Amino acid sequence: EKGGFEHFMLKEIYEQPKSIRDTMTGRVPKDSHGIEFTELGWTEEEMAGINKIFIVACGTAYHAGIVGKYYLEQLARIPVEVDIASEFRYRSPLVDGNSLTIVISQSGETSDTLAALKEAKRLGSRTLAVTNVVGSSISREADQVVYTYAGPEIAVASTKAYTTQLLVMLMLAIYVGRLRGTLDIAKAHKLVEGLHDIPEQIHKLLENVDQIKVFATRYGSSEDAFFLGRSLDYAVALEGALKLKEISYIHAEAYAAGELKHGTLALIVEGVPVIVLATQPDVYDKTVSNLQEVKAREAMVIAIAFEGDDSIAKYADHVIFIPRTDKYLAPLLAVLPLQLLAYYAALTRGCDVDKPRNLAKSVTVE
Ligand code: F6R
Repeated sequence: EKGGFEHFMLKEIYEQPKSIRDTMTGRVPKDSHGIEFTELGWTEEEMAGINKIFIVACGTAYHAGIVGKYYLEQLARIPVEVDIASEFRYRSPLVDGNSLTIVISQSGETSDTLAALKEAKRLGSRTLAVTNVVGSSISREADQVVYTYAGPEIAVASTKAYTTQLLVMLMLAIYVGRLRGTLDIAKAHKLVEGLHDIPEQIHKLLENVDQIKVFATRYGSSEDAFFLGRSLDYAVALEGALKLKEISYIHAEAYAAGELKHGTLALIVEGVPVIVLATQPDVYDKTVSNLQEVKAREAMVIAIAFEGDDSIAKYADHVIFIPRTDKYLAPLLAVLPLQLLAYYAALTRGCDVDKPRNLAKSVTVE
């Protein structure tokens, strides 16, 4: 049942080329400049009437929501708020008939997310569910549904569901951006072309994991780790830290790279592993200067950067290269080394990877 893999988590990590391909099928026509969502059928008029988007979810799905905010704000130019479901449902959110509330849930059964969805509906919002389970409670409650086609996710730690959620959020942003005229044809076309390459690029990354195994073994004995990045890299850093905590029980924190000096820079001492994501061109130089700050404190720095970025090796102890792609697509690739680092660190520490302590696959109680 694990298809030759030692754990479901590893099997599911390796299923990502397929789950990404399946989630694109029919939605990213090869010769088209845009995205098709026949299940939505939204119109220009409808989209002109939406002035605010709320994205609500828990855990890993919440992290996908943070990426979704960047996508929707930058490509479709609509203000987006991202909320943790257990906060949203109790904070009297300012949701109304001109809002769209998007809930993201792999299982479609998470109780806080379902309650948040009901609250958004009660306040008059349009609602859309992004979920992996057909016929789930959340899919039945929402006005509309876009499915991720990750296939069943058995491991408690979410991997392939997360990347398909990122993909759906990007496709939605392209779709809405075209309807609202905020995204030009040439840029949409470039993104769509980039998407077609992603499954093969993931495959390529997953072929070459020896270096990651070595790093994971090395920092498996650490008690703390830090993940830094700016912009979309920060959103991915949050997920990297959660993955590591969940399955290896190494304490991990993600920081927006520029925020570290406003916080616990004092914890960055000799030998502490710091994973720095540096895939975003607009903030690249700033990120590299943050990298140098932690290096100056003798942290053990692993950078995640695009192939061909030769300069970063001067500053980091190690570099994990990911295939080149558009900045918006980078999260789909950059998270893979983080999933694998978490997996192999957990293995080194003898943890039960598929069933981490105190965690349920689907949280149906508050
Ligand atoms: C993390 C993880 C959890 C879930 C969260 C939401 O690996 O599995 O954080 O992401 O419980 O679950 P869903 O997406 O089913 O609503």
